[in-house]
Amino acid sequence: MTKKNKAKSSRSSGKSKKGSGSKKKALIVYFSASGNTKKVAEAIAEGLKSKLKVDVTPVSKASVKEIKDADIVGMGSGIYMWSAAKPLKKFVESLPVLQEKVAFTFSTSGFGRDMQLNSLKVKMNKKGLCVADSFSVKAYDTWGPLKLIGGINKGRPDKDDMKKATEFGEKIADMF
Ligand SMILES: Cc1cc2nc3c(=O)[nH]c(=O)nc-3n(C[C@H](O)[C@H](O)[C@H](O)COP(=O)(O)O)c2cc1C
Repeated sequence: MTKKNKAKSSRSSGKSKKGSGSKKKALIVYFSASGNTKKVAEAIAEGLKSKLKVDVTPVSKASVKEIKDADIVGMGSGIYMWSAAKPLKKFVESLPVLQEKVAFTFSTSGFGRDMQLNSLKVKMNKKGLCVADSFSVKAYDTWGPLKLIGGINKGRPDKDDMKKATEFGEKIADMF
């Protein structure tokens, strides 16, 4: 086998061992009603791209196959009633128990508190998606009476939040 063919065959075999030349695959699955969490998903992806091959997909289009094919899985959501959005939690519940893989979570919300992702993390861990790290940030929120005062956290996630999200992605990528 020529050197060129050898390189080609290791890429197409799907092997992604360190040093083999092919990058590991990261998949980000998100739910975002207003676009706040989508922005953060894309900023995290920028950071991951420093070392990994990255796909970003809304949960409405995510498949079990994509999850199985990924070496690392990130899941993110806007927070609704103190928890990740139902479609994302339902998607995780629908997954088979997977061979363990590294995972991370992220959220945007009015409070910006990561603890609102706890139930999502438990569900992911049960499916073999071992949550190693998480990133949560404040975002524009007009929930309920907040609408009357024009919402809170206007303009967020902002430039600084996006920079932090990209740095978070780089930190995750450094694990590989
Ligand atoms: C119906 C509704 C419920 C919400 N519940 C919470 C909540 O429990 N805690 C919180 O911190 N933010 C809450 N928020 C704010 C959202 O989490 C925030 O706006 C988030 O950025 C939405 O993300 P997305 O548009 O990307 O889905 C709520 C917003 C709405 C519209």
